[in-house]
Amino acid sequence: MITLTALAPAGLQVEPDAARVAERVADALLQALRDGATLGLATGRTMLPVYAALRHRLAALGAPERRALLAGWRSFNLDEYVGLGPEDPRSFARFMQEQLGDPLQLPPGVLQLPDGLAADPQAEARRYGAAVAAAGGIDLQLLGLGNNGHVGFNEPPCSADAPCRSLPLSPATREQNAGAFGGAAGAVPSHAITLGTAEIRAARRLLLVVTGAAKAQVLRRCLLEPPGPELPASWLQGHPGLRVVVDAEAASALPLG
Ligand code: GLP
Repeated sequence: MITLTALAPAGLQVEPDAARVAERVADALLQALRDGATLGLATGRTMLPVYAALRHRLAALGAPERRALLAGWRSFNLDEYVGLGPEDPRSFARFMQEQLGDPLQLPPGVLQLPDGLAADPQAEARRYGAAVAAAGGIDLQLLGLGNNGHVGFNEPPCSADAPCRSLPLSPATREQNAGAFGGAAGAVPSHAITLGTAEIRAARRLLLVVTGAAKAQVLRRCLLEPPGPELPASWLQGHPGLRVVVDAEAASALPLG
């Protein structure tokens, strides 16, 4: 049997439920802030309890330490919808503002994302990729998992070294994210800007977070099938700093013990 530790040297961690997953991930984010890391942040429902747990941890700190950590905050988000700006409640910029920017009172511009309103999305993707590189790359990249195996918005088929770019969203992804757009997949923007598998794999540490039974099969395939373009997250295999934190439901298809 293939052992998961061989695929993910930094470890696979199975927690009983999503709340416990969030606690572990928030611990890792807090430690990264203490280390002065450049964070790679993600959006999506999986991250809601994670950011809630991080807010609680920060609130529990003494004021001097909290102030110091927030003053040193540096982060880049994975992706944004083309055509949506921070004023749009469905944008990832607004998601981040609501989850972290406003509650933590981070100064404007600290939570960096691609500009969904840029006139030329490909040029914006190049600018954003260059900004990540100029910052020295990502130290800790937080990742969710799409139902079709995407990370960020790297839709299949996707090579292992795709750069930051604008690309069309797949029907499966527009369906998955329709909830935020009144339930209609057709209302989900047709394109997004995303950090590529190149920038993601260049991060020093990766933290893949997966919860819920609906993702059990795609998680199994991404971790155990040979890496390939049809499952973009499979390109994470073998990354020396990959840590995978999942709940029992998401782990239910893995050959554990
Ligand atoms: C979205 C985002 C991804 C996210 C994934 C899972 O489309 N682009 O970054 O990780 O899909 O989302 P959720 O956590 O809501 O299942």
